[in-house]
Amino acid sequence: MNNTEQPKAIVVIFGATGDLANRKLYPSLYKLFNKDKLSKDFAVVGVARRPLSSEEFRQNVKDSINETLKKTQNLEEFSSHFYYHPFDVTNRSSYLELKDLLYELDHTYKTEGNRIFYLAMAPEFFGTIASQLKEEGLTNTDGYSRLVIEKPFGHDLPSAKQLNEQIRQAFTEDQIYRIDHYLGKEMVQNIEVIRFANAIFEPLWNNRFISNIQVTSSEVLGVEDRGRYYETSGAMRDMVQNHMLQMVSLLAMEPPIRLTTEEIRSEKIKVLRALRPIPEHDVKNFFVRGQYDAGEINDKPVPGYRNENSVDPQSNTETFVAGKLLIDNFRWAGVPFYIRTGKRMKVKSTKIVVQFKDIPMNLYMKKEEDKVQNPNLLVIHIQPDEGITLHLNAKKSGQNMQTTPVKLDFCNNCTDGFNTPEAYEKLIYDCLRGDATNFTHWDEVGLSWSFTDPISKVWEQQIETDFPNYHAGTMGPKASDELLEKDGYHWWPINDLEQ
Ligand code: BG6
Repeated sequence: MNNTEQPKAIVVIFGATGDLANRKLYPSLYKLFNKDKLSKDFAVVGVARRPLSSEEFRQNVKDSINETLKKTQNLEEFSSHFYYHPFDVTNRSSYLELKDLLYELDHTYKTEGNRIFYLAMAPEFFGTIASQLKEEGLTNTDGYSRLVIEKPFGHDLPSAKQLNEQIRQAFTEDQIYRIDHYLGKEMVQNIEVIRFANAIFEPLWNNRFISNIQVTSSEVLGVEDRGRYYETSGAMRDMVQNHMLQMVSLLAMEPPIRLTTEEIRSEKIKVLRALRPIPEHDVKNFFVRGQYDAGEINDKPVPGYRNENSVDPQSNTETFVAGKLLIDNFRWAGVPFYIRTGKRMKVKSTKIVVQFKDIPMNLYMKKEEDKVQNPNLLVIHIQPDEGITLHLNAKKSGQNMQTTPVKLDFCNNCTDGFNTPEAYEKLIYDCLRGDATNFTHWDEVGLSWSFTDPISKVWEQQIETDFPNYHAGTMGPKASDELLEKDGYHWWPINDLEQ
C-alpha cells in the first residue's frame, strides 16, 4: 500500500456531535490533513439529530481540535470542508436530503463518488442506517462506498449475527470496516514485525521455548459517564471479546504467506478457531471476574463501581477479568496465554510479557535458593510507553561468577516524542485507502463471541456474592493472582517492568 496516497472522498459521520467524533475523529482527520495525507478534494458531512448550521458545526469541530491538540494551524481551511446535516435515522426524507447533499459535494470536491459512512453512534441504529443507505441509493455511485462501524458489534453471537446479516444486505464484507482501535496502535501493529522480521525470535516462538504469555491492559479510569452502557457490557464484552483477543491472535498467529489483508486475517482467524472453548462447569477454573470497590487513586478517594452514576447498587457487572486461554495447535499446545484487564487499577498500562522457559541447567547456581532463575522475558510495551525490553542475565561485575538480570530496551516513543500517530488517524487513513487489514473480519468477531459467550452466560446466571472484590487502585482481586499461582507462575508486576 502506498503511504503517500492522498485519497479523495466524502466522509459522512453519523454521531457527529458525539464524544468519539469530537475527541478522536476530528483531531485525526485534522492531523491527516496537515500531514498532506488527505487530498484537497475531501469533504466531511456531520450527521446527528441536533439542529445545527454548517457554520455552528465548523465552530464545534475547531473547538474540539483546539481542546485536543496543543498546536493548531490551517484550522479555517480544514474546517471549510465540513458540512452539517440534521438527521432522523428512521425518516426516509432525511436520507433523500443527505443524498442530494452528497451529490452536490461530489461535484464541488470532485470526490469521484467515493463515500465513507462512519457510524460513530448508538449501536441500535447500525442495521437501520446501513439498509436505508442502500435502499435510498446513497451507496449507488461511480466510486466506492465503505461502512465503518464502531463497537459494540452485537452483544453476543446471536445478536452480532443478526446485525451482520442486516448490514450485509447493504454492504459486502470487503466494504465493511469494523473498528477495533487497538489494531491501530503502533505497538500492536509492531507485534507482527517483531515476530516475523527477527531471526532471533521466530524460531523460539513456540511451546518448546515459551512457558507462558501474559497480556495486561489495565486502566486507572472508572466507568466515568458510561455506566448505562457498561452495565450491559462489563469488561468481558467491553475489552476481552475484542481488544484482548485481537492481541492474542496477533501473538499466536502463524506467519502469513504474504502481507495481504486476506492472508493476515486468515491466520488470525485460525488462532481464534484453535482457542479451546471453556465448558460452563470449568469457567471458574479458567476465568476470574472482579468489581472495584472504593479506594484511592493518586492519593484521592474514588467511589466503588456500585456507587457510580447509572449503575445498579447491587450490580453483578464485572469491571475486571483475568483468564487463561489455551490454543490447541502444534505451536501452542500446553502454553497458557493469561489475559487480564480492568478499570480502576493501579496503573494505566497495556503490556505483553512473553516468558521463555528456563535453561535446562543453571551453572551459576551456588546454593539451593539460587535455583530460582531469572527467566528471559520479552516485554512489548503497547501504551503509554511504547517499546520493547528484553530481560537477560549477565555477569555481576567483580571477582565472582554470579549472574545479574539486565535489560535491553528500545523505546519507540522516546525519540519521536508525541509524534506516534494516534490509532484513529491510522485507521481512518487505512479506510480511505481501502486497506482493511487492521479492521476485524466478521469471522473474527463471530469466533470471539463464540469464545466469550459461555463465560458471560455463566456469570450472568450466578450472582457473584464476593462483589466488590478489589479496591480501586490495586491490580485486581486475589483470585487473579491465584489463577497463575496454581500453574506455578505469577503476573510480572507492571511497575517493575516499566522502563
Ligand atoms: C474501549 C472501551 O474500547 O477501550 C473502554 O470501550 C476502554 O471502556 C478503552 O476504556 C480503552 O482504550 P485505550 O486505548 O485507552 O486502552
